[in-house]
Amino acid sequence: MVASLVPESDSVCDIGTDHAYVALYLVKKGISKRVIAADIKKGPLMQATKNICAYGESLRVETRLSNGFENISKGEANTAVIAGMGGETICEILKNDIGIENFVLQPQSGHCELRAFLLENGYVIKNEKISREGRKMYVAMLVSRGKMESLTLPELEIGPILIKERPPLFNDYVKYRLYEINSIYDKIISSNASERLEEITTIKNLYEDLIK
Ligand SMILES: C[S@@+](CC[C@H](N)C(=O)[O-])C[C@H]1O[C@@H](n2cnc3c(N)ncnc32)[C@H](O)[C@@H]1O
Repeated sequence: MVASLVPESDSVCDIGTDHAYVALYLVKKGISKRVIAADIKKGPLMQATKNICAYGESLRVETRLSNGFENISKGEANTAVIAGMGGETICEILKNDIGIENFVLQPQSGHCELRAFLLENGYVIKNEKISREGRKMYVAMLVSRGKMESLTLPELEIGPILIKERPPLFNDYVKYRLYEINSIYDKIISSNASERLEEITTIKNLYEDLIK
């Protein structure tokens, strides 16, 4: 799903590459001519190097130790993939954006915070997709520089394109998010912790409304 959102590129940087599977897929499928497979930790980069060698792609996929874009130079990549980390971490990485044209973002959490950051910092969401693997569901988005007028709370939580286009997995995805929020709601109720009750109830109600 992440790779399917990547526009044809001369060079992609895959920030937080870990095993480098996305990086390898992008060159193997001809989506990008080359990829910089970057990670903040040496351990994942060692695994990435092994995989890159095993797939014979050392010329097209280069590994690089980098905290976000720190060691990526301006103009080195047209597209950045930032997948499989929390929305808050993705926001931190985007704060040091080096003028890249396209971003494919796949947050594991903090979807609302990430979309709010995009809205406030001059990014536009161009596409969004949902996928399911086993019992887990994921959302990824294609983002570029631009302006979004505003986003409603349901759009911030679930995604403006997904709400507009309602792809086949839409209802299942909202139910998945509803299941997560219900377990937080139950914990709040059983522990008598009232601080987040209003916020969680609002989100719970909006998810229920989306699938009515
Ligand atoms: C769960 S893995 C995701 C791997 C892959 N992107 C995917 O979606 O399958 C998250 C990776 O992000 C790396 N990471 C976390 N924060 C980072 C940062 N600020 N800069 C670069 N890499 C980071 C971690 O070391 C880890 O290898």
